[in-house]
Amino acid sequence: MSRRLNNGYCIPLIGLGIHKLVHAEEIRQVVKLAIDAGYRHFDCAWIYGTEAAVAKAIHEKIKEGVITREDVYITTKVWNNYHQRKDVVEKLRESLQEMKLCYVDLYLIHWPLGFKVSANSLPLNEGHSAYSDVDYVETWRGMEDCVYLGYTRSIGLANFNSEQINRILKNANIIPTVNHIEVHPRLNQKKMIQFCAQRNILVTGYCPLGINEMSGVPNFPEPTICDEKIDEIARKHHKTAAQVVLNYLISLGICVVTRCSNQFRIREHIDIFDFQLDPQDVEYLDSCNRNQRICAFSAFVDHKYYPFRLEF
Ligand SMILES: NC(=O)c1ccc[n+]([C@@H]2O[C@H](COP(=O)([O-])OP(=O)(O)OC[C@H]3O[C@@H](n4cnc5c(N)ncnc54)[C@H](OP(=O)(O)O)[C@@H]3O)[C@@H](O)[C@H]2O)c1
Repeated sequence: MSRRLNNGYCIPLIGLGIHKLVHAEEIRQVVKLAIDAGYRHFDCAWIYGTEAAVAKAIHEKIKEGVITREDVYITTKVWNNYHQRKDVVEKLRESLQEMKLCYVDLYLIHWPLGFKVSANSLPLNEGHSAYSDVDYVETWRGMEDCVYLGYTRSIGLANFNSEQINRILKNANIIPTVNHIEVHPRLNQKKMIQFCAQRNILVTGYCPLGINEMSGVPNFPEPTICDEKIDEIARKHHKTAAQVVLNYLISLGICVVTRCSNQFRIREHIDIFDFQLDPQDVEYLDSCNRNQRICAFSAFVDHKYYPFRLEF
């Protein structure tokens, strides 16, 4: 099951995010298991440091004759230190070498805000001296270069707000295919999804289960997969709470990337297409929205291009 992007390529509805699975061997096992379970979409990023291990597993499955390169959809992202046009191209060239690939399917600007090349990759205590003021429109030029060079089939944005998207659209030769943002029932992003749909941009949702382990935001509401009412809905459909949540998110018209290292849950998360939620189930899930972010990147709130000062 997939959605068609504005450039004609299709992206599978469910992806596996390979973030924080730190051991290369564990990543390899998880990716191989996921391919056997039916996953064809893998969400990587330079900053995760997992590109090589993910690609190794994919190459092994290609060698075994289980899949071809054309069957899998591989995303990676350029990190904030490399927002200059020439660096964007160079970093993708490096990622391709790491992955032993000729092209990726989707390349994203990980965040609209940039850091200096000389700064740490996560300059938490360095203040303004670590920030670069490279305009993300320049970064987009580099992304377009990557398409012209054949290094990626599609390009897109991540964590951009509506004004930043409009600025990209005003200046772009190639329209972004996706905006990759946090989406879960506590932050259902309906306004952003509609805004993007009107511009023929697809939303891909990360942190779909809304588990607050990334940043430990104080007072963050309990994830909906622990909600008794969602559990009741799940039992009615002979599914799990996670399957109900993922089915709901897909019904919003988006793709999702989940992260999971547990073999049973990996299978569970892709087995969500054989049931339909009732209108009252959807109404309840809609009511869980609190517009509350897990991944607010709030250490960088004073950056000129910090994206989350607007409603969406
Ligand atoms: N672009 C960005 O800025 C950005 C930011 C954050 C994330 N992402 C992407 O999105 C992906 C997914 O986001 P995420 O990792 O934050 O969130 P997630 O998929 O919502 O949650 C992952 C966590 O939930 C646990 N889990 C999975 N299924 C579960 C279940 N059925 N019941 C209970 N716990 C369950 C996993 O543990 P187990 O491993 O034990 O299953 C893992 O600890 C990332 O890997 C990354 O690729 C992108």
